[in-house]
Amino acid sequence: MHLFTYHNPTTIFFGKGQIIAVRRAIPEKHKVLVLYGGGSVKKNSVLDQVRAALNKHTFLEFGGIEPNPSYETLMSAVELARREGSDYLLAVGGGSVIDGAKFIAAAIPFEGKDPWDIVEKHAPITKALPLSCVLTLPAAGSESNNNAVISHKAKGIKRPFSHSLLYPVFAVLDPTTTYTLPLKQIGNGVVDAFVHVAEQYLTTPAHALVQDYYAEGLLKTLLEIGPQTLHHPLDYEARANFMWAANQALNNLIGVGVPHDWSTHAIGHELTAMYGFDHAQTLAAILPHSLRVRRQAKRAKLLQYAKRVWQITESDEEKAIDTAIDKTAAFFEAMGLKSSLAKLGAEREVIEKLPARLQEYGLTALGEHGEVTPAVVKQILTASMNG
Ligand code: NZQ
Ligand code: ZN
Repeated sequence: MHLFTYHNPTTIFFGKGQIIAVRRAIPEKHKVLVLYGGGSVKKNSVLDQVRAALNKHTFLEFGGIEPNPSYETLMSAVELARREGSDYLLAVGGGSVIDGAKFIAAAIPFEGKDPWDIVEKHAPITKALPLSCVLTLPAAGSESNNNAVISHKAKGIKRPFSHSLLYPVFAVLDPTTTYTLPLKQIGNGVVDAFVHVAEQYLTTPAHALVQDYYAEGLLKTLLEIGPQTLHHPLDYEARANFMWAANQALNNLIGVGVPHDWSTHAIGHELTAMYGFDHAQTLAAILPHSLRVRRQAKRAKLLQYAKRVWQITESDEEKAIDTAIDKTAAFFEAMGLKSSLAKLGAEREVIEKLPARLQEYGLTALGEHGEVTPAVVKQILTASMNG
């Protein structure tokens, strides 16, 4: 196991009716800016519950943060907050609104010329507004981690950034807020969480028993409750387990002391920037093919995954790995996603264009050991286009 420091400062208020906790958790001295997306929180009354919880606070609202939040939209919120003197952000929505809030939190006190430099040039963050969230879509894990992924529409790029000042102060996880999610978003959320675990688990062994068993527990939970919560949207216990599993998949716990991959995400972010595919959809179309192309490097973990997660008892190791990957792809399909770029109807030009973009950005050594070069990305994309 590698050396690590673990600290996650986000308080979680979990369960039905917990939105009211916002009232006590944000000191009344703050001028709160409530951030939300395209309006789902208005339709399902989550925003009304937030307004009621804040009825003793001074607060403003900013709506319209889109999926794959854009720098352009977020800068309008930055201007509003600066003008009105907001000093606390409350994100109400899914990963996009929460990620957007993280950018806004860092951008408001940013002293450089353009806050986009925080994302693209890793300009140092020395201050950030406190932010908290009310989660309505289990998927990204953004509610209790320090990462954000922001798109720049004019430049046509999507990039992650992170900073320790960007952990939310608290996150409300009320499973009943997810009852109105379209089936597509449930499928997206389950697959995104599944791939978050895969990126931290399907690498090379690190003698990390706790992390491995925990990761396998999360994968098995998602396999069990994924279809259940898709087919029974009002099943509270299924939604509760989904919400907690998606949170634990990327709250930085299972990733301590072990190698990380994240190449599926890096390729996925390019696919979203180039063609607008949903985040989880890009992952479903890449992961199975990445695992096939890189099966030798990941062999030990793939065999462990086959045995412990899928209970595959096949003695022929190659067949066991094939079966585990096939079952993974079938699970993504059962959740309503496409497991290849071919099934998504992507254009063949992607095979040349995407690796060239990664090369241009210097993203030439992805994966747990830097072995995913643009040439390997090309192999993965070719496999997915033939899949
Ligand atoms: O915008 P509104 O109207 O709110 O509708 C949203 C949006 O259209 C809707 N929705 C959310 N909660 C709902 C609801 N509809 C009905 N009822 C509800 N309760 O769902 C749609 C998608 O929302 P979005 O926030 O975009 O989805 P998600 O949570 O999957 O977030 C995706 C973003 O997170 C980033 C992705 O790249 C993508 O930009 N990620 C962030 C990560 C992080 N911060 O650690 C890690 C992830 O790997 C991921 O990259
Ligand atoms: Zn993701």
